[in-house]
Amino acid sequence: MKTPIYECLIKNKTKTKPIWFMRQAGRYLPEFREIRKLNPNFINLCLNNVLSSEITLQPLKRFNLDAAIIFSDILMVPYGLSQKVNFKKNFGPKLGDINLEKISKVNEMDFINKLKPIYKSIKNVKKNSILKNKDLIGFVGAPWTLLVYMINKNSPKKKLVKDFFKDDFLIKKTLIILEKFLKLHIKQQVKSGATIIQIFDSWAGLLEEKKLSNYVYEPTQNLVNYVKSLNVPVICFPRKIKNYKNFCENVKPDAISIDYNVDPKLIIKEIKIPIQGGLDPKILLSDKENLKKESLKYLNIFKNHPYIFNLGHGILPETDPMMVDYLVKLVKDY
Ligand code: CP3
Repeated sequence: MKTPIYECLIKNKTKTKPIWFMRQAGRYLPEFREIRKLNPNFINLCLNNVLSSEITLQPLKRFNLDAAIIFSDILMVPYGLSQKVNFKKNFGPKLGDINLEKISKVNEMDFINKLKPIYKSIKNVKKNSILKNKDLIGFVGAPWTLLVYMINKNSPKKKLVKDFFKDDFLIKKTLIILEKFLKLHIKQQVKSGATIIQIFDSWAGLLEEKKLSNYVYEPTQNLVNYVKSLNVPVICFPRKIKNYKNFCENVKPDAISIDYNVDPKLIIKEIKIPIQGGLDPKILLSDKENLKKESLKYLNIFKNHPYIFNLGHGILPETDPMMVDYLVKLVKDY
């Protein structure tokens, strides 16, 4: 029996509209906040396979979603490469200095051992009967977005620092190391039971057009080809880039996840592969009537196109779970 997302991604079926959410496990859920309160160290929480499995399943216990996404973070890879990673309250991630000599010396076994609880968590979740006929999504950050965090050491907000590209040697070496360990991380997730891989490129939109090829298209395409070689579908989310058509032609993912700046009416004319997402997560903070109107807009436009319902970025912590419930039911009844 094939899952609804598989039917959409691989068979390009348009009849059912599967649904899941980026950040579906997170601070908008009281049951997550309860666990989080007792576990102030976010990295340790990601490395606690019992709790991370429980958190992964929390949204599925509430809503009829078509996939679970493993509770972890894209910054677990820099952590596995021995760079310091901290999450400060109301600030976001804070990384230590990048040390090329140190990250060059990390060997594959040490990396896998450090991240083993994530793989264990995938195995735990996979065994749960709630996942019957549903997918389990594994993920990685795209090389570019991870490079941004590793060099910038925190979220770049709106633009890159002026001298970001000054150390060409450091950048080239780091990208090579990232490619190797991202493949390893993908392989371990798939081996443990992940049935889809999503590649998050949250900061793709920071790059000028002429730099996309070297920093986004090429390194991401290498990962996409690798996931495909494992016989697993791959979804890319190159947030805020201007030309999604160019991205798809160069990188060739199985599906493309769009951000909320993308006009769905235009994108459907340009892109032939399955599309995911788009709805502005802020719409979930308004009222049911508006949420219905805005979600129907996406559902109607993508009526005859393979489409996975999702948002244009992660669910906001202020979101009322009742609104999420309403949206899932609306999509399921469509
Ligand atoms: O989607 C899911 O439910 C799965 C888990 C997941 C998390 N982070 C958990 C998380 C996934 C897929 C991510 C990806 C991620 N992490 C991205 C790419 C997607 C995006 O949002 O653009 C990025 C850029 C990160 C890095 C990161 N992690 C930031 C910038 C922050 C702090 C900002 C924030 O929203 O708190 C995190 C922390 C984080 N990752 C939280 C969660 C649930 C919040 C932790 C908390 O409870 O304080």
